[in-house]
Amino acid sequence: MVALIENPFRVGLQQDRIPEPQIIVIFGASGDLTQRKLVPALYQMKRERRLPPEITIVGVARRDWSHDYFREQMREGVEQFGSGLGHESTWNEFARGLYYCSADMDNPDSYQKLKHFLETLDEQRNTRGNRVFYLSVAPRFFAEAILQLGAAGMIQDPKRQRLVIEKPFGRDLNSAQALNRVVQKACDERQVYRIDHYLGKETVQNLMVFRFANAIFEPLWNRQYVDHVQITVAETVGLEGRAGYYETSGALRDMVQNHLMQLFCLTAMEPPIALDADSIRSEKVKALQATRLADLENLYNSAIRGQYTSGWMKGQAIPSYREEEGASPESTTPTYAALKFHVDNWRWQGVPFYMRTGKRMPKKVSEIAIQFKEVPFLMFQSAAKQVNPNILALRIQPDEGISLRFDVKTPGNSLRTRPVDMDFRYDSAFGQPNTDAYARLLVDCMLGDQTLFTRGDEVEASWRILTPLLQVWDAPAAPDSIPMYEAGTWGPVEAELLLNRDGRKWRRL
Ligand code: BG6
Repeated sequence: MVALIENPFRVGLQQDRIPEPQIIVIFGASGDLTQRKLVPALYQMKRERRLPPEITIVGVARRDWSHDYFREQMREGVEQFGSGLGHESTWNEFARGLYYCSADMDNPDSYQKLKHFLETLDEQRNTRGNRVFYLSVAPRFFAEAILQLGAAGMIQDPKRQRLVIEKPFGRDLNSAQALNRVVQKACDERQVYRIDHYLGKETVQNLMVFRFANAIFEPLWNRQYVDHVQITVAETVGLEGRAGYYETSGALRDMVQNHLMQLFCLTAMEPPIALDADSIRSEKVKALQATRLADLENLYNSAIRGQYTSGWMKGQAIPSYREEEGASPESTTPTYAALKFHVDNWRWQGVPFYMRTGKRMPKKVSEIAIQFKEVPFLMFQSAAKQVNPNILALRIQPDEGISLRFDVKTPGNSLRTRPVDMDFRYDSAFGQPNTDAYARLLVDCMLGDQTLFTRGDEVEASWRILTPLLQVWDAPAAPDSIPMYEAGTWGPVEAELLLNRDGRKWRRL
């Protein structure tokens, strides 16, 4: 049973304010993300009355669609991927604010046309020049779109015009720096919202509350008590038809540089001096600046990649990565990565952080596990072999919650110990579904709150850590040089050895 008490972080982290009337312009609106995630998320917000009635969405893409066709596509998206249409009248009101404008990303005339269209909509829908430009296009178009928006004078006003950039932000340190220079040329960092949907997840946001609103954990959160940290993001899905993107990306760029690094930052960072966006993001940057791959001389001691071969999952035959449509039969793209980091600062010196992520794992599960050191002196000589370390597991998804593992004496005359879990579960404590991560982030952006978005120096700091590894993993390699794991298993055996060498093992999840 969990008693709910007023949360002192609420004011800072979650403002239930309604954004001002505005136009959300989605570049790449004919793509998957718009139909599957963005518009269903916005509609959910509409149904929860968290958007003003004037809210207007303009889809922009090359295809020659009509407003009505766009509305139909979005309706299908909401029905199929969202939380339902609800009252027809609610949908109709929302759909009246949906528009489409065809454009070529590299044609200045297209931006002028769009600009005038948005000005007309301002008059019709009273959106007062407030804009969010959401770049949901292939990353190779990011720089072009940003420069064109800048040249057309569409992102001049830091207070009313915002730019959302989807991942991946760059491919390595150099390209991320180059893109940041483009951004700086066209607008102000205060207008830029680099999105990482993991930061919109309730459990991820809760990490800060858990650490800094409770007195009992923070004193243990350091090298004196923590033996090591394991961060796992395992997925059951494979390529999902995204070979074109994934073949040039792989697990390190797709998951580690962004999602896992964010989980890492929130676990490793120091308490911020305040809850504003810059105080929090500065602490994350400091944590990243102190972090490096464990052994830069011999990367094999720091990082293991893997790729899935065919296998069975839930009674279904799963093709190998190389057999997936669009993947090269000789591909060496990693679908799995296991990494070991050191954080060179007073809090964490000597405490390894291990991370792993992979596709086609047996289970979809994301968690951060803090494993504590063993007791300094063991009184229970006879039971010595049975004493287990304490583990604090923060379950990000699914089955969101937090559990603390400790040893207890089993009932009876003999002195035997057994680990048990004290468990907090979101669903039983709150009994309400979490707000979709995209919905939460979109509203924050409309409110001008950058806390849950990645700052330019943060993204560079994270690329800096991984770039030495990318240089090795990107080099042409023989098809049989990459470790393999069977679909439906926990990764290549080499990843087990990464921990075994340190006398540790991955948690069984
Ligand atoms: C995306 C990656 O950013 O995150 C996908 O591109 C991955 O490959 C997805 O499947 C995982 O997100 P979630 O929210 O399902 O854990």
